[in-house]
Amino acid sequence: MTMTRREAGAGMLAGATLAATPMIGSAQEPEPRRLPAPHKEGGMPLMAALSLRHSTREYSVQPLAAQTLSDLLWAAFGINRPSGDRTAPYWRHVMVIDIYAAMSDGVWLYEPKEHALLPYLRDDIRALTGLQDFVGTAPLNLVYVAHGERMTDISPEERRLYASVDTGFIGQNVYLFCASAGLVTVFRGALDYAKLGQAMKLPAQQFVTFAQTVGHSRA
Ligand SMILES: Cc1cc2nc3c(=O)[nH]c(=O)nc-3n(C[C@H](O)[C@H](O)[C@H](O)COP(=O)(O)O)c2cc1C
Repeated sequence: MTMTRREAGAGMLAGATLAATPMIGSAQEPEPRRLPAPHKEGGMPLMAALSLRHSTREYSVQPLAAQTLSDLLWAAFGINRPSGDRTAPYWRHVMVIDIYAAMSDGVWLYEPKEHALLPYLRDDIRALTGLQDFVGTAPLNLVYVAHGERMTDISPEERRLYASVDTGFIGQNVYLFCASAGLVTVFRGALDYAKLGQAMKLPAQQFVTFAQTVGHSRA
């Protein structure tokens, strides 16, 4: 059965609340970080961005400006229509993927309706988001997490498949945004999934699909 938009939206918000639980009860709980409004115009012509798209594995430690983070997350999987739908297509109109931003000041959950980052974990877990050295010092690692519990009446293999496809579309949005904005990125599947899931304190049915590093080039 396909979820209605309303159900999917309600599920998304419930998921966001649930997902935010690890921070609850901790002293001096950080506030949600509202992002500046994204720039939805401009950027590079599409064919020029496609010409520049590539993966990079050498990153400067320079953090991303708030406006850049805002534009990046909107391009990745922000809301682009009054219906609440997104910049990337998604399976059966069920909102399956959450984007977490692992940065030096902790892990944040992207909440597209408010276009805000919800505090999720205080820890700097960047080094656990992949098996390559650069992930520990690059300013941002996006971690794509799937809500398996929202993918009813299909097998675990199909869950993994459709969640991965949803993630791939987001990943390409990030690649093209980075090409356009003069940033660098790499989509990554070489992860210790068990360790990362544990570090992120993910509920049982949720699973990491991929990660993606974003930053400024070290060159
Ligand atoms: C599903 C998938 C998983 C990937 N995993 C990794 C990874 O773990 N580490 C990495 O450095 N690159 C990873 N990549 C990036 C590819 O290595 C890269 O896209 C490919 O070598 C082509 O290079 P290009 O992106 O510069 O065109 C992955 C790409 C995809 C699509």
